[in-house]
Amino acid sequence: MKADGDPNLIVYFGGEYMPLREARVGILTHALHYGTGVFEGIRAHWDERSQELFVMRPVEHYERWKQNCGILRIDVPLSPEKLCEITLELMRRNEFRTNVYVRPIAYKSAERIGVATDDQDEFAIVALPFGDYLHAEKGLHAGVSSWRRIEDTAIPARAKICGAYVNSALASDEVRRSGFDEAIFLNESGHVAEGATCNIFMVRKGKLVTPPVTDNVLEGITRDSIMELAQRELGLPVVERSIDRSELYVCDELFLTGTAVGIAPIVRVDHRQIRDGAIGPIARQLNESYIAATRGHLVAYRKWLVPVYRGQQPDLVRLAEASVA
Ligand SMILES: Cc1ncc(COP(=O)(O)O)c(C=O)c1O
Repeated sequence: MKADGDPNLIVYFGGEYMPLREARVGILTHALHYGTGVFEGIRAHWDERSQELFVMRPVEHYERWKQNCGILRIDVPLSPEKLCEITLELMRRNEFRTNVYVRPIAYKSAERIGVATDDQDEFAIVALPFGDYLHAEKGLHAGVSSWRRIEDTAIPARAKICGAYVNSALASDEVRRSGFDEAIFLNESGHVAEGATCNIFMVRKGKLVTPPVTDNVLEGITRDSIMELAQRELGLPVVERSIDRSELYVCDELFLTGTAVGIAPIVRVDHRQIRDGAIGPIARQLNESYIAATRGHLVAYRKWLVPVYRGQQPDLVRLAEASVA
């Protein structure tokens, strides 16, 4: 199995599988200077019980990627299904038997000075062994950043546009240097938007509340999965509405969601403890359901998973029935 940072890690670049050390871009590449790329983040989880690696909602990730590439008029010439096949092949070639993070990136590749774009696009897919992104076992202390979330009228937050992550980097750096674990963004209207690289949920008065996609948030796939789990598994009503900053201080529970982090509970915000300062029951139950679903242990959510080593969906269904029996 190839390790993170291994120069022999097999990546997909320029239409070929090759070692990471050979996948290089030029110093004048447009995207390096102007941030004109769009990336994705996909997870695969290793399940010890079935000795299988399950990729989480890869078709939806590639559909989102291709749509968002369209915002920058970057063309990814392959279908989501073909991109999934490449992703599975990368995992097999690297013989991964652990949790994995997949990073597709498409970018403006012309090597010249000048911000105007043209039709020279490239894309690459890298898959790496990847453990926990945030260490949230005891709950996080989040801080509201003084940086505001980018507006759709400047750089669309709904797409993972490379240049937009300067906004996330500034907020993240600011709050970490001030001693917090993670940043929370407000948007220009002063409402809570999201974390630096995650969506946000609050439990208040028996409902799960999250900002609408029109409040300058990334349209998270984990956000969507959590809303489904909350309604189906916990019978919890889910509401998409704007959230005030001060609601964070008086809510019952707060947590972040994202492909890299999964579910990360927040137990303090801006030096204010949330309830008793312990991880709340809803975050805990959702986390358990999410872990079970992403490892193939819940039949109802097999639809989200594509197995790497056992081939296609029918095998997965048989596996599901066997593990439930
Ligand atoms: C800014 C931002 N918000 C939210 C998310 C969560 O989205 P998803 O659940 O699709 O990973 C991410 C990253 O993945 C992100 O970068």
